[in-house]
Amino acid sequence: MILKFHDDPTVNGFEIVVFLRLVWWAAGKRKGAELDAICKQSKNPTFCFNLLNSIPGGATDANLVDLVQYALDVTRVNLTTTTKLIKRLIRRNPNDIEARDHYTLCLNRIHQGAFDAVKSTEAILKSREFYILNSIACGIRTQIDLCIDGESPSDTPYNDTSLLPAYASVISEVVEIIVIISNLLDK
Ligand SMILES: *[C@@H]1O[C@H](CO)[C@@H](O)[C@H](O)[C@H]1NC(C)=O
Ligand SMILES: *[C@@H]1O[C@H](CO)[C@@H](O)[C@H](O)[C@H]1NC(C)=O
Repeated sequence: MILKFHDDPTVNGFEIVVFLRLVWWAAGKRKGAELDAICKQSKNPTFCFNLLNSIPGGATDANLVDLVQYALDVTRVNLTTTTKLIKRLIRRNPNDIEARDHYTLCLNRIHQGAFDAVKSTEAILKSREFYILNSIACGIRTQIDLCIDGESPSDTPYNDTSLLPAYASVISEVVEIIVIISNLLDK
């Protein structure tokens, strides 16, 4: 089509610019529909849009694999921030055995379990085994839930008044996006 433009003396640079803008706009619209399809499945669509649109280079040029990889990068940064918070909470509660036990469990779950699950998810993403990507990604959230809710269903969740539950809930929202995109990749 562009070649035809070149042959046609009535087409000027302005029209080519308009044409290219239209192509760019159509691509953006298609990507917008894709983000809609992802984020309307999430519990917090606004958070989902903001997160995916914050991918360096913009969401327009990103494919689903790029978006999952970006969400995993964000998860890793979130886990690092959260690990620092947990270490601080352990230091701050030297004599409160219940608090120390709870935060020590969380340190294992977040610093070890969740980081390992992120690594496994990345490995599966690289090997493009999309059919198991979602169950491996769910493993990240399991580790976070074990920290917040306790190890067994009979455990009374620790009444945590620190920032940790809010941090954990943000990570769960990021992981939810990873799981949603994993399901789309498997189709
Ligand atoms: C996690 O990352 C998101 C996106 O960068 C940010 O908005 C949020 O504050 C982070 N949360 C934690 C606990 O690091
Ligand atoms: C949790 O702790 C806060 C502050 O100490 C208290 O106000 C609240 O009632 C407690 N909640 C439960 C369910 O024990």
